[in-house]
Amino acid sequence: MKPRVAVFASGNGSNFEALARACASGEVDAEIAVCITDKPGAYVVTRARNLGIPSEEFRPKDFGSKLEYERAVLDALARHDVDFICLAGYMRLIGAVLLDAYRERIINIHPSLLPSFKGAHAIRDAFDYGVRITGVTVHYVDESLDGGKILAQAPVENSETDTLDSLETKIHACEHKLYPRALQMALDNLKKQQHL
Ligand code: GRF
Repeated sequence: MKPRVAVFASGNGSNFEALARACASGEVDAEIAVCITDKPGAYVVTRARNLGIPSEEFRPKDFGSKLEYERAVLDALARHDVDFICLAGYMRLIGAVLLDAYRERIINIHPSLLPSFKGAHAIRDAFDYGVRITGVTVHYVDESLDGGKILAQAPVENSETDTLDSLETKIHACEHKLYPRALQMALDNLKKQQHL
């Protein structure tokens, strides 16, 4: 059976869609089992519906604590028989409940060459700093913000003529290519360790 992947997203979901299409085409040997969002009604839910992928929508405020919220998410992951998690624009730190259950099985995409430009405004921060080369990183997730072991990176040039908009467009195009490749790498690594 193919590994079953959950994608966590809080907004637009273009990386969710890139991953779903790469799995559907066979570029990645996995199945996107479910989309998990902490923002009910986010556009990613529409994308999931259009692709025939189930969504689970959670409102963290509805739970007494982060622990209870993550336990509810964990139950949903169990219902969908999820083996692996991709974070794709999920604007929330992963806590102990999910980390303990999916240790070494959660990856995230970040729009800079880590460890430079951590945080929520990486593309703008790199543009404002004036770096000529920025890029995209896919890394394993641990307790830290954008800090886990790096799995894959790709460079993107910020040329003299780029604007913040054109740089964003290039970064997103790069993400949509890199994330499926990185997911396949992570799954291959797991298979080698015979965990899947
Ligand atoms: C991406 O730039 C990703 O690197 C960052 O959040 C953004 C999500 O975009 N973590 P989308 O929702 O996948 O379109």
